[in-house]
Amino acid sequence: MGTVFKNGTVITASEMFKADVLVEGEVIMLIGLNIPAGGHEVVDCTGKYLMPGGIDVHTHLDLPFGGTISNDDFESGHIAAAFGGTTSHIDFVIQPIGGSLADGLKVWREKATKACVDYGFHLAVTDLRDEVMAEIPSLLDEGITSLKLFMAYKNVFMIDDDTLFRAMQTAAKHGMIVMVHAENGDVEALLRPQLLAEGKNDPKYHANSRPPEIEGEATNRAVVMAGMTGCPLYVVHMTCEPAIQAMARGRALGYPVMGETCTQYLFLTVEEHLAAPGFEGAKYVCSPPIRTKHDQEVLWKALQNGTLQAVSTDHCDFWYEGGVGPWQEWQEKHKGMDWIGYEAQNPSYRRPGKELGKGNFAKIPNGMPGLEDRMMVGWHHGVNGGRFSASRFVELHCTNPAKIFGMYPKKGTIAVGADADIVVWDPDKEHTISARTHHMRVDYNVYEGMKVRGVPEKVYLRGKKVVDGSQWTGEKGKGQFIHRKPHAPVV
Ligand code: URP
Ligand code: ZN
Ligand code: ZN
Repeated sequence: MGTVFKNGTVITASEMFKADVLVEGEVIMLIGLNIPAGGHEVVDCTGKYLMPGGIDVHTHLDLPFGGTISNDDFESGHIAAAFGGTTSHIDFVIQPIGGSLADGLKVWREKATKACVDYGFHLAVTDLRDEVMAEIPSLLDEGITSLKLFMAYKNVFMIDDDTLFRAMQTAAKHGMIVMVHAENGDVEALLRPQLLAEGKNDPKYHANSRPPEIEGEATNRAVVMAGMTGCPLYVVHMTCEPAIQAMARGRALGYPVMGETCTQYLFLTVEEHLAAPGFEGAKYVCSPPIRTKHDQEVLWKALQNGTLQAVSTDHCDFWYEGGVGPWQEWQEKHKGMDWIGYEAQNPSYRRPGKELGKGNFAKIPNGMPGLEDRMMVGWHHGVNGGRFSASRFVELHCTNPAKIFGMYPKKGTIAVGADADIVVWDPDKEHTISARTHHMRVDYNVYEGMKVRGVPEKVYLRGKKVVDGSQWTGEKGKGQFIHRKPHAPVV
């Protein structure tokens, strides 16, 4: 027995049409008009849209970073993703300093054993020694086709130009794609102590330490290297006009370059959010920083005209008021142990969060929540707001991510033979986004109070219903690793 989704309107990246969809097992078997109910379960989709499950290719679940660990893990983050209509994501495995890529992969595989939706891995290379370079081709056998390099976070994750260029040469040879966090980390590492020495400690000075120019410069540098090496490049979390100009120039020259922005950069500003009174601004500290209304307009336009190909979240959440309970004592006692999971069983305890940076913006853990909100916010402001069509919404949030990262057409579309990752979308239902009702494990929401129209009503992962209204019907451990293909297209 399968499931027939009856009388809905299917949205793909290229069209919108009325149809029934038959799912058998984990895949879509048939799309057409008047598919007989037979012995199948019938889901009445009258007045609803049927979209492919969302794909967020930029998340950091359970990431040790900024003196703590990001809150959401492969269970809480996955449940939140599904409630927001996202059924697949790609997380970043971090190569441990001094260790191998395989060492990093082992750690992330362990984290993902509790997966509730499907996931892939990018490999973030932090230390490209000769033996690590030799290890890169083996990633393809593991279904990992993307490398990530940080041009920022000096003395933490940052690599130099030599490393970036060599990584691109190797990636190009093996049909892989290189992703970069594009900010000039050397300049940022000079500006930051200068600001602090001047007594500029508040969260808003985070933006002064990472101005748009250093993002534009680094983006251009990576784009030029992609042109020289022929390596497909994907610039993550693009925020500002100089970066978009660098990307547009590269694409006009025919270089294999692509980019994403993240939902938050379309809505939050330094003025209103980062410079909010008191320590509120810490909630919005991420890198690159949120920018200005002008930059937001540049980003919307880049999503419309194809300079940008995708919208992701860079979901990396930390408590606003963390460090509650005997965490320090506990950490001392359990030195070297992984303390994920401890918090879930001890509700009186919260790992350190944004409060680490009170009095010093440089110590605020960088990152914010958004995995659950991306589709609803993107739909409301993109489609209802008249910025792009429903098909372009699907392209930016589902299809392009799948194509660029070697998952298409198994993921990212509604088509015969594709995984039955289906969102039954209610375009009329209204919802107010709030930390009181979201499923992300974090005590604030950057879109608090935002009213949206259009929400996921039911969410299916490979044919199995995981969300039904406000009910979680999925299962821990049932999310699968997505083995991705090399030589993905440049879109
Ligand atoms: O502030 C951010 N973006 N935190 C996560 C790590 C990164 O740079 O993507
Ligand atoms: Zn980054
Ligand atoms: Zn990131």
